[in-house]
Amino acid sequence: MAAITNINDLKRQHKRRTPKMFYDYCESGSWTEQTFRENTTDFDQIRFKQRVAVDMQDRTTATKMIGQDVAMPVALAPVGLTGMQCADGEIKAAKAAEKFGVPFTLSTMSVCSIEDVAKHTTKPFWFQLYVMRDQAFLENIIQRAKDAKCSALVLTLDLQILGQRHKDLKNGLSVPLRPSAGNILDVATKWRWGIGMLRTQNKSFGNIVGHAKGVSDMGSLFTWTAEQFDLQLDWDKVAKIKKMWGGPLILKGIMEPEDARKAVEVGADAIVVSNHGGRQLDGALSSIKMLPAILDAVGNQIEVHIDSGIRSGQDALKAIALGAKGTYIGRAYIHGLGANGETGVTQALQIIHKEMDTTMALCGRRHIETMDKDNILVPRDFYGDWA
Ligand code: GLV
Repeated sequence: MAAITNINDLKRQHKRRTPKMFYDYCESGSWTEQTFRENTTDFDQIRFKQRVAVDMQDRTTATKMIGQDVAMPVALAPVGLTGMQCADGEIKAAKAAEKFGVPFTLSTMSVCSIEDVAKHTTKPFWFQLYVMRDQAFLENIIQRAKDAKCSALVLTLDLQILGQRHKDLKNGLSVPLRPSAGNILDVATKWRWGIGMLRTQNKSFGNIVGHAKGVSDMGSLFTWTAEQFDLQLDWDKVAKIKKMWGGPLILKGIMEPEDARKAVEVGADAIVVSNHGGRQLDGALSSIKMLPAILDAVGNQIEVHIDSGIRSGQDALKAIALGAKGTYIGRAYIHGLGANGETGVTQALQIIHKEMDTTMALCGRRHIETMDKDNILVPRDFYGDWA
């Protein structure tokens, strides 16, 4: 087998080893996928400045995100259905993140539950919340995250309704779950994935089944989810959730300076500049293009993080050089997980760390916190001349 040297190698293996419907779920954007594509290609427009004859001994990528130590400013983003990419996927990814020293964020729509992940880890992880209409469920899941000692709540604000991803509908990953005949055949050929799945109990949405009234299987669960995402989520509700949670709060899905200011007003600890990996509002600008304007608006009042489009340590470093205090990878680690379980996630983190560290050195910096705009070249018209 050829050596794994970059995230694309893991992506190819992920595709080979994981049922098509779950690989496609990961590798999709909404509608035309314009935003999904530009999230990655826009990173290419930013360049590094090469510096020479600078002592590069004793380098470190260690820093803090929301006051918590991280080995590098790259957290694992919340990703729904992670436990379908690979049996017990959330537990494996959380263990890899813990050993590496970066935050793992568990999605509300995960397969392994908060309690499952807590049982298999020793350090606190972060929990991502989708706001549901069912008030009892909402209060209960926040309490469960507190009981599991989660050290941050990542509240997603850009998914009250689901952006349409054509492949999911064609594959039958819809409401209710209806896999096509072709997909049933495809699953049968992914023996490594199948053996793992046969051995685990975790095959449904662990945070929801058994906790939400009237949800006992996948079919009813999909219906319940489509009906339960709270269409009325607004800033007052965000403030209420902040109070209910009482701990560090990260607001995810901020793409406009005006919303960033509201996040400051509500007293959040950090925001994530994110368009949900291009899975929600197709036609939105890429996250990296929106980052400078949001940093200008609130960068000295709140920690600004970014996700969407980061597939390498160089991408993450460009965001840090622009002024972000943290970044998140979703697909980049899911490719590792689908390729090779916990080991694959560790490989993804190692690849990204090495790319980040080497690039930092060649830019003439030894400490990630000293990377700044002097290290990069950004096109004058990077944001674009929009009317
Ligand atoms: C959910 O977070 C999704 O993007 O599918």
